[in-house]
Amino acid sequence: PSAFDLIIVGAGFYGATIAERAAELGKRVLVLDRRPHIGGNAYSENESETGIEVHKYGAHLFHTPNEAVWNYLNRFTSFTDYKHRVYTSLRGQVYSMPINLGTICQFFGRQMSPDDARRLVAEQAAEMADRIPSNLEEKAISLIGRPLYEAFIRGYTAKQWQTDPRDLPEYIITRLPVRYNFDNRYFNDRFEGLPVDGYTAIFEKMLSSPNISVALKTDYFALRDTIPKTIPVVYTGAIDRFFDFSHGELGWRTIDFETEVLHTGDFQGTAVMNYADESIPFTRILEFRHFNPERDYQTDKTVVVKEYSRSASKLDEPYYPINTPSDKEKYLKYKQMSENEGNVFFGGRLGTYRYLDMHQAIGAALKSFESEIAPRLKAQQE
Ligand code: FDA
Repeated sequence: PSAFDLIIVGAGFYGATIAERAAELGKRVLVLDRRPHIGGNAYSENESETGIEVHKYGAHLFHTPNEAVWNYLNRFTSFTDYKHRVYTSLRGQVYSMPINLGTICQFFGRQMSPDDARRLVAEQAAEMADRIPSNLEEKAISLIGRPLYEAFIRGYTAKQWQTDPRDLPEYIITRLPVRYNFDNRYFNDRFEGLPVDGYTAIFEKMLSSPNISVALKTDYFALRDTIPKTIPVVYTGAIDRFFDFSHGELGWRTIDFETEVLHTGDFQGTAVMNYADESIPFTRILEFRHFNPERDYQTDKTVVVKEYSRSASKLDEPYYPINTPSDKEKYLKYKQMSENEGNVFFGGRLGTYRYLDMHQAIGAALKSFESEIAPRLKAQQE
C-alpha cells in the first residue's frame, strides 16, 4: 500500500468516482473491494443460460435531475432511452404506480376528472380530521385515505418491514405521491436511461487508468495496519464496522433474491410488477429482459427474480438504512468519531448511513473530491 497516493475502500459509484478523479490528477490509486467484482451494488452480470443482464443487487434504474452528474457519467457510457414504469398486482388486477388518475379511476371503477379524484381522496383522508397520526397506518390514511391505503400501501409495507403498519412509526413516510393525471412515468427527473453496455462496463472504464490498481476479495480491515498513516483513505464501507461497533450496530433492511430462468419469452410483459397482496410473500418480481428491449435476447427463455424483504443481520448485505431514533443517535456518535480520523474520508451509502441513489453517490463523490480530497492530494506533493 505504501506505493500509492490514495487508498479507496469500495469499488461502487462513490469509490470509483473518486478513483477516476484522482487518477486524472496523476495520482496512484489503490481501490480495494472485499467482493469478487467491481461496481458495488450497481454491479450487473449476464445470466449464464440466457445472456440476459441481471442487476445482482436489485433493479438499478439510472435517473438524475443533475446535469453535471449526467455529463460526467456520459464520459463512460451512453444511455438507452428506457423510461421506468411500475405496475402493481392486487387481487388479480393490475394497476399502474405510483398512484395516478388511471389507478384511481380503475380502482373506484369510474371515470373521474382530476378535480373529482382530488375531492374524493380529500374526503377519504378527512377520516383522520385533526388527529395527529401516531403510526404509519394513520399517517398514510391522513395522506391518501383508507381505501387507497388498504389496497396499495398496507400489504406492501407490511411485507417490506415484516411488521404491521400500525406498529411502524409514522415518520417512515412523509409523503405518498399521488398524481392527478395519467402520467405513469416512475421518475420525474430530466435525465433517465440504462447504460447501453450494462453497468459493469461503466466501472471497467472508470477504473481503466494505468494509475489505478484494483484489489478484489480484499477486506480493508485485513490490511489496515500495513497502510502508512500518511496515505489518505476514502472509506465507503460501513461506518459502524470501522469503529468496531463500539456504539452498537446500525440497523439495515436486506432483500433475499430468488432467481429463476423460465421457459417463456415473456413472463409478465414489464420489468417490475409489485405485489400488494399480503398473502403473497414476495414484494415484487423483476423480469430483466424488459430493461433492455433494444437487445437481441433469445425469445424462448426469460430471467425473473422475486424479492423478499427482511431486516438484516451482521452477515447479510445491508440495503436500506432503518434509521430509528436509536440508529440516528448511534450514527451521530460514529460521525463524531470519524471527524477525528484526520486522513480518512467517509463517503457513500455505507460510510454515511444513508440511502443514496446512484446519481447522489456520484454527485457527493465529485463534491467531496473537489472540496476535500484534491486539496489533500495536492498538499501531499508540497
Ligand atoms: P456501494 O455499496 O455500491 O459500494 C460500496 C462497496 O464497498 C461495496 O462493493 C462493498 O463490497 C465495499 N466494501 C464495504 N466494506 C468493505 C471493506 N471492509 N473492505 C473492502 N471493501 C468494502 N440507485 C438508483 O439510482 N436507482 C436504483 O434503481 C437503485 N436501486 C437500488 C436497489 C437496491 C436494492 C439497493 C440496495 C440500492 C439501489 N440503488 C439505486 C442505490 C445504489 O445501489 C447506490 O446509490 C450505490 O450503490 C451507492 O454507491 P456506493 O459506492 O456508495 O456504495
